[in-house]
Amino acid sequence: QVIDARGHILLPGFVDMHTHLREPGREDTETIESGSAAAALGGYTAVFAMANTDPVADSVVVTDHVWRRGQEVGLVDVHPVGAITVGLKGKQLAEMATMAAGIGRVKMFSDDGHCVDDPLIMRRALEYSSSLGVLIAQHAEEPRLTVGAVAHEGPTAARLGLAGWPRAAEESIVARDALLARDAGARVHICHASTAGTVELMKWARGQGISITAEVTPHHLLLDDSRLETYDAINKVNPPLREKSDVDALRRGLADGVIDCVATDHAPHAEQDKCCEFSIARPGMLGLETALSIVVDTMVTPGLLDWRGVARVMSERPAQIVGLADQGRPIEVGEIANLTVVDPDASWTVSGKKLASVAHNTPFEDMTFSSKVTTTVLRGRITVRDGVVANRAGE
Ligand code: DOR
Ligand code: ZN
Ligand code: ZN
Ligand code: ZN
Repeated sequence: QVIDARGHILLPGFVDMHTHLREPGREDTETIESGSAAAALGGYTAVFAMANTDPVADSVVVTDHVWRRGQEVGLVDVHPVGAITVGLKGKQLAEMATMAAGIGRVKMFSDDGHCVDDPLIMRRALEYSSSLGVLIAQHAEEPRLTVGAVAHEGPTAARLGLAGWPRAAEESIVARDALLARDAGARVHICHASTAGTVELMKWARGQGISITAEVTPHHLLLDDSRLETYDAINKVNPPLREKSDVDALRRGLADGVIDCVATDHAPHAEQDKCCEFSIARPGMLGLETALSIVVDTMVTPGLLDWRGVARVMSERPAQIVGLADQGRPIEVGEIANLTVVDPDASWTVSGKKLASVAHNTPFEDMTFSSKVTTTVLRGRITVRDGVVANRAGE
């Protein structure tokens, strides 16, 4: 097993805190197997599979299935995310302790893709999470402020007559949950930060000594709402693409460490759910195989991050936040390694049909990036070599 990494960058295996794998329920768009291949090709050695499956991951039956199936496939550790409530947006807390004690060892809970909008449920979930030692991740989208299934604000959106998803829908929940976490003595993690105001609120909350962390997606680092001019539903996502000034603030926040890490929000959707009218299309876009290339072109190339910083935002911080002891560290001599090798001069052009996901909904079609993951190693076993999936478990 020789890896020729001359001229390449060696990084700890990436950890994605926010992946949608659609199994169980929508295997026509992604399975744990196809999503694991996409993750390995993207340089990931661990992903967190979100809870909005069908059935919802609100019981140990579902969360243990997700973990077991991921281990069977053997390309990446697929950590299940448990739902906070019974059913998404439920009124009753799910059996978090049972899920945390299962084979799948659930470490993170959320009501993805739904905000926990009831402050009392959020407060109780936070209190309970701190006694269990698990993490609550919040989608920060106040549903009563968002009109319709998706929404945008800003000049482009206004011109297109799109319904509004104001910044306050996100920022009011970030502020609320920072205060709830403070009072509950708990940690809270903010999913897919999308506004300059959220970056400011993170600075404020940290200044208060509140245990709050946040992630940003590759698409919010790269794309802005000018993409919506074409009214192409491929660009529809929750939270929406925002203005250039928000993109700049998110990049600076990630460089400064105010935003802790990059998480993909990889969200496969069927062709018929993305190639229809904007207002009825589903929100979300593929992200696993393009994440590193986007982080390099948006952060490393402009001098906002060095390669050490890439290791921090793609691997080290997410592993710390969610408590993965065996991931996210530079390896010690003699240790079984989780590694990602990046070719910094491998220009490539994205083609949705060539991605490993079952669904093809990438907004980055025909875009050219300057670097690429070439090799991924999971616990000493090569899972991707020269950009091709190498070893599934047992092979
Ligand atoms: O755009 C999104 N789609 N954002 C989310 O957080 C959920 C996701 C999905 O499940 O499709
Ligand atoms: Zn979300
Ligand atoms: Zn929602
Ligand atoms: Zn999501």
